[in-house]
Amino acid sequence: MPPPLLFQEYPSLDGVVPWIPLVNSFTPVERLSNLETYLNTDTSLWVKQDNLTSPIYGGNKVRKLEFIIADALQRKKKTIATLGGIGTNHGLATTIFGKKNGLNTVLYLIKQPITKHVLDNLKLDFHYGAELKYVKNYLGVGLQFYLLDRLRRKQTYWLPAGGSTPLGILGYVNATLELKQQIEKGKLPEPELLFVAAGTTGTMAGLELGIQLTGLKIRVLGIRVTDRMAATAGKVKSLIKGALKILHKDSKLRNFQYKPRFQLIDQYYGGKYGRVTPEGQKAVDLIRQTEDISLETTYTGKTLAAFIDHVKRVETTGPMLFWNTYNSVDLSAIADQVNYQQLPSEFHHLFIEEVQ
Ligand SMILES: Cc1ncc(COP(=O)(O)O)c(C=O)c1O
Repeated sequence: MPPPLLFQEYPSLDGVVPWIPLVNSFTPVERLSNLETYLNTDTSLWVKQDNLTSPIYGGNKVRKLEFIIADALQRKKKTIATLGGIGTNHGLATTIFGKKNGLNTVLYLIKQPITKHVLDNLKLDFHYGAELKYVKNYLGVGLQFYLLDRLRRKQTYWLPAGGSTPLGILGYVNATLELKQQIEKGKLPEPELLFVAAGTTGTMAGLELGIQLTGLKIRVLGIRVTDRMAATAGKVKSLIKGALKILHKDSKLRNFQYKPRFQLIDQYYGGKYGRVTPEGQKAVDLIRQTEDISLETTYTGKTLAAFIDHVKRVETTGPMLFWNTYNSVDLSAIADQVNYQQLPSEFHHLFIEEVQ
């Protein structure tokens, strides 16, 4: 496996910044021609298929975990503890790739609206061996994850929600170098706008930083899908600041000055994390019919709704890129084999509630 583009571009980071290979190769970019026809637009529409980051489990988390799991291993940790909603894709990705690399996982899970996808992820967390802790509210998480358990479990790597740490977002700086090569090879024109889901904002922060480092002019639009407190412009900037501290290990980067250009868009959230919105659901249905692409309603459906609205509202712009962050490896057959009654009892009631 060759070193990541980040180390090829900045060789003095090699051996200094922890990294292990998890992403198989460049993820493809595709033109969304059927969607263009459906929307009757002259704007060229593109997708970056990070749903295909790995044949084991795809989506955006894999890129972050290349750096995070390497760091945990380097620090000789035995377990990664992290948190999220009960259907967290991040928790599942951490469990799957942690296990592959000899690490246990503990997941602190908070209730969110129930969909089949949410319940499947919960069963899969169990199937892949995560220790599951149900926390009723944010206060409970604060106490357990950030205070009590942290003091007791010294061998544990404490990973913030979404894997959004300065180190983790280097995965998306790396992804931008990949995108730049694809543009240079003529696989797509340089987009004017890039739409990406903003949950814990690490993905958009990495893209925003990478775009400026590589000299691309793309404007990043983060579609907020979590509470206003979790996804703020301040958080994006602070992740970038932290990532730059790591990157400053390469002398070429010491004089680089970052200037914020991204925008966080609020109006697709729908008032609650995980709530299915009508426009999000419509976008999920439309892209399935026109392009045979599978999205979900918590992150990528809301982001695609914003993308489609932009095409409808603004007559013609430069090329637009939708960054698909959702895993497309179908693990539902494995989930179907798990009997929910095997899970810790505090999770059982979730399986008898009404699905959205
Ligand atoms: C499918 C999907 N898209 C986007 C995101 C958001 O990424 P970030 O937390 O880096 O903003 C997540 C986070 O869990 C996700 O699961």
